[in-house]
Amino acid sequence: MSQSEPPTPSSDAAGLPARAAALDLLTAALSRRAGLEEGLSHPALAALSPRDRAFARALVMATLRRLGPIDQALQARVQKPPPDRVVQILRLGAAQLFVLQTPAHAAVSSAVDLAQAHKQSRPFKGLVNAVLRALTREPPDLADPERLAPPWLYARWTSAYGAEQARAIAALIAEEPATDLSLKDPAEAPKLAAELGGEALAGGSVRTTRRGDVAGWPGFAEGGWWVQDAAAAIPAQLLQIQPGQTALDLCAAPGGKTLQLAAAGAEVVAVDRSAPRLKRLSANLQRTGLAAETVAADAGDWKDRRAFDAVLLDAPCSATGTFRRHPDVLWAAKPGDVASLAAVQARLFDAAAERVRPGGRLVYCVCSLEPEEGEGQLAAFLQRRPEFAVEPVAAGEAGAPEASLRPDGTLRLLPHHLPGGMDGFYAARLKRSRD
Ligand SMILES: C[S@@+](CC[C@H](N)C(=O)[O-])C[C@H]1O[C@@H](n2cnc3c(N)ncnc32)[C@H](O)[C@@H]1O
Repeated sequence: MSQSEPPTPSSDAAGLPARAAALDLLTAALSRRAGLEEGLSHPALAALSPRDRAFARALVMATLRRLGPIDQALQARVQKPPPDRVVQILRLGAAQLFVLQTPAHAAVSSAVDLAQAHKQSRPFKGLVNAVLRALTREPPDLADPERLAPPWLYARWTSAYGAEQARAIAALIAEEPATDLSLKDPAEAPKLAAELGGEALAGGSVRTTRRGDVAGWPGFAEGGWWVQDAAAAIPAQLLQIQPGQTALDLCAAPGGKTLQLAAAGAEVVAVDRSAPRLKRLSANLQRTGLAAETVAADAGDWKDRRAFDAVLLDAPCSATGTFRRHPDVLWAAKPGDVASLAAVQARLFDAAAERVRPGGRLVYCVCSLEPEEGEGQLAAFLQRRPEFAVEPVAAGEAGAPEASLRPDGTLRLLPHHLPGGMDGFYAARLKRSRD
């Protein structure tokens, strides 16, 4: 996949604010869940020139995509862990040197300047200089897939999918992904692909390597499409909506799947417990001219008693499948998260089942690579709810790659199953018996 040229800050003088912003952004990304997303909309970043802002973002993404091998190289050269701020300066310096290919003297001196700018890191200026110079003499291997993911996650993927698949998944951590778009009218895909210099994918998405603010791309203002990963566009299609059917989207915000259901002609109710995220969903509905009833509620104890032809549960999960666009999830996720989220998923799965009319369909999906959140949830659900059975996905349905179709008719979408990559997802379609 083609990579855009890494932007450089406008001048050395403008470089320090851009690098300081990168430092804050990296700290936010690694200190809390969703920290990267929050940091990217922080006023401090918005105050930078567009060029410096793009540089700060590119530097942080480059660092996060190679964090495993960068940390290994640093740990080999630093005996006692320095303060957190110094660690971040070293990580950014290494990414500048070996990913953005900044000339060594500029990368090292700007890292030293960054250390000098704050009292916590000032005493470590010499260390920053010495470690980064040592790295330039003996450049680390930042490409080995086995080092790109945290070891505990890599071990999980190896045990779930085997060594070869785990390596192929992890190799995509270092790749900058293309942007996928879902269209209100899928028949327009070839035209949009031509306008964007992209390609129309089998599932109806358009994939483009174009960069920059999507709001300026053809068709955005008119609401003809929305950004949605090609894998994320598959689960809603499995409901095979017929115009006029009723659909419930639980855990709906920011609404990519709600928009698909509405575009297919369903009368949609979209539930999410996060009011700010529902606001984004409403803005997406408004821009695309699509309609849905929105409800701010916990899907697990929503009091409404309506039953629906189609129910979609895109359950909250560890999100490890989204690492191509959110490499921070790999480092924010902790081993205990999977078990605690699995309990939430089971509760919401049962709540979703209650809303399906007899003979109706239920799609359960998660953007996680962890079997406890996917295959494990389905197996336990089928034990609890004998009135539901898997309705197998057909070969090629919704553009799902052949390699993703499991023998039981559910989908285990692994990031490398699609050339150029896609998010990791699990999706199962179930049908409720008629009585
Ligand atoms: C994976 S995201 C959903 C993405 C969305 N389906 C889309 O396609 O744009 C999970 C969502 O679940 C919501 N959520 C988490 N727990 C919930 C609960 N108990 N009830 C309702 N929504 C919940 C979160 O606020 C978040 O928006």
